[in-house]
Amino acid sequence: MCGIVGYIGPREASTIVLAGLRRLEYRGYDSAGLALIQDGELVLRRSVGKIENLASLLAQQPVEGHVGIGHTRWATHGGITEANAHPHTDCRGEIVVIHNGIVENYRELKEQLLVDGHLFRSQTDTEVIVHLIEKYRHRTGDLAVAVRLTLAELKGSSAVVVLSTLDAQQIVAARVGNAGGVVVGYGQGEMFVASDLPAILEHTQRVSFLDSKELAVISESGARFLTLAGEPLQKEVQTIPWDPVAVAKEGYKHFMLKEIEEQARSVTDVIRGRLDLEAAKVHLEGLGSFSAEQLRTIKRIYAVACGTAWHAALCSKFLIERLAGIPVEVDYASEFRYRDPLLNPEEDVLLVISQSGETVDTLAAMEEARDKGLRSISIVNVIGSQAARLADAVLYLNAGLEIGVASTKAFTSMLVATYLLGVYLGQERGLLERPQREDLLQDLIELPGLVDRILANGHDYEALAQRYFKRRDFLYLGRGLNYPIALEGALKLKEISYIHAEGYPAGEMKHGPIALIDENMPVVAIAVRDHVRDKMLSNIEQVRTRGGIVIAVATEGDQEIADQADHTIFVPAAAPLLAPVLTVIPLQLLAYHIAVRLGCDVDQPRNLAKSVTVE
Ligand code: AGP
Repeated sequence: MCGIVGYIGPREASTIVLAGLRRLEYRGYDSAGLALIQDGELVLRRSVGKIENLASLLAQQPVEGHVGIGHTRWATHGGITEANAHPHTDCRGEIVVIHNGIVENYRELKEQLLVDGHLFRSQTDTEVIVHLIEKYRHRTGDLAVAVRLTLAELKGSSAVVVLSTLDAQQIVAARVGNAGGVVVGYGQGEMFVASDLPAILEHTQRVSFLDSKELAVISESGARFLTLAGEPLQKEVQTIPWDPVAVAKEGYKHFMLKEIEEQARSVTDVIRGRLDLEAAKVHLEGLGSFSAEQLRTIKRIYAVACGTAWHAALCSKFLIERLAGIPVEVDYASEFRYRDPLLNPEEDVLLVISQSGETVDTLAAMEEARDKGLRSISIVNVIGSQAARLADAVLYLNAGLEIGVASTKAFTSMLVATYLLGVYLGQERGLLERPQREDLLQDLIELPGLVDRILANGHDYEALAQRYFKRRDFLYLGRGLNYPIALEGALKLKEISYIHAEGYPAGEMKHGPIALIDENMPVVAIAVRDHVRDKMLSNIEQVRTRGGIVIAVATEGDQEIADQADHTIFVPAAAPLLAPVLTVIPLQLLAYHIAVRLGCDVDQPRNLAKSVTVE
């Protein structure tokens, strides 16, 4: 998770920016930096590791100035180095940029900028942004216009904050998509900008939130807003209550909805620091303890988890077997720990998946495997949790705090993390040639934009909830990688609305569940364009001919499915291995709106805990 803080006003900018970055430490980061304008010159201070290192650097080499921006970074492309830390400057040292998001088309932009004579000093995608702004600033003489023209060239979601010695009395901030937020804070004769409210709330409770495709020009006396098309914009000034829970909800009615809507950002952040598009390779820093030889000799993986994480473990079977050619056996942790599994420490590896990293059954399964000599990899969200400490290797989700008991953004990040693991294992075992890896990585960097499209598609989930919130039973059907998604959709509905729901592999319909079909039980069918789409169409027809109700999740444009279903929620076409990240989102939103319509306690459902640490 990356944090951004900016200040312009009469006070010392470095003090305010550093304090703001400290308030964003909870977001996780591996490097930090800031840039100020001191006597008309851009001065940067950047460090790898904790913010204390940046504070020490500033103590040794202080910077004075009244306008500055700062950044905590989770690496995007390229390694965790000072050179790759933000902020990034142009060749002349006149412009500096901080960036949240992924530039999907950064390679072709970089190639053209190199032809135009720009010199690059880092491996990051961000650097193409500062060079484009430099190009347009010198062509137009206007920083805001330069930022607008630059963002128009970028593909994917991005949030940028820009400082220039050529325009020393302003900070420009802009946003496209939802990979990062931008909030503008109004002080008395001073102004603030940040990625998240906690960074600036000690200075002001009066803020404006930038929406996608909007830009702010911030001076110490205030801010003016534009659309990326250059049209002037009036933005509402909101007063944020001091209530920390309300602050954390950032205006959402429930944490669960906030976390569902955050998924373009959380999917971006699980990818950060793990792609090297130059080499078309995945870098998993946490797997360093596995030698190349050990990675090559893995004969079997046992994927073990509970609940939603177990659904991700089921997906990991499809992904790792397909991408790395390693057989995967999936177990509920509560079963694995008691069934005395036949494990071979020379050939088998345990993979545990857990948002909290504290689930008692999952930890017990880790001990069972360790007692039998197995090495383990954990995919977890909570930094420093037991599952992270007990494992030989850790792959963090970087999803930030997930407060809603019903897991949403952590789940989609688990799917992306297991995809990354599959590609990594496949590349390290020599199974994936460069052309294949290039396609696999390109599918990944386009994913946040597809998540954005689903969240912005304006589907009327409230009307759907209004229609079916009183039903007592739901059936969820899916095939292949969407069978675990059917299970996950059913679990989401169960745990927050208390309606009975079952997930089933659609091919099993004729072996029993079809007896349940009638006009009272809605059937949710995941029927996106993949190799089993026609089979799903047939299942939908079987349900309809027996008087059943079908809510379909289909690929945009698939009218044949829509003609057969009572209701259709469309998702963008996606690579089959990443499609589950998209197909689960409508199911999360359906469950959420039904639970809200029922008046349930969405964030803290009855009988449930966020982490099951006792048996
Ligand atoms: C998910 O919505 C549930 N809250 C629950 O099934 C959860 O996934 C399970 O308890 C596992 O938790 P973990 O990921 O923290 O190990």
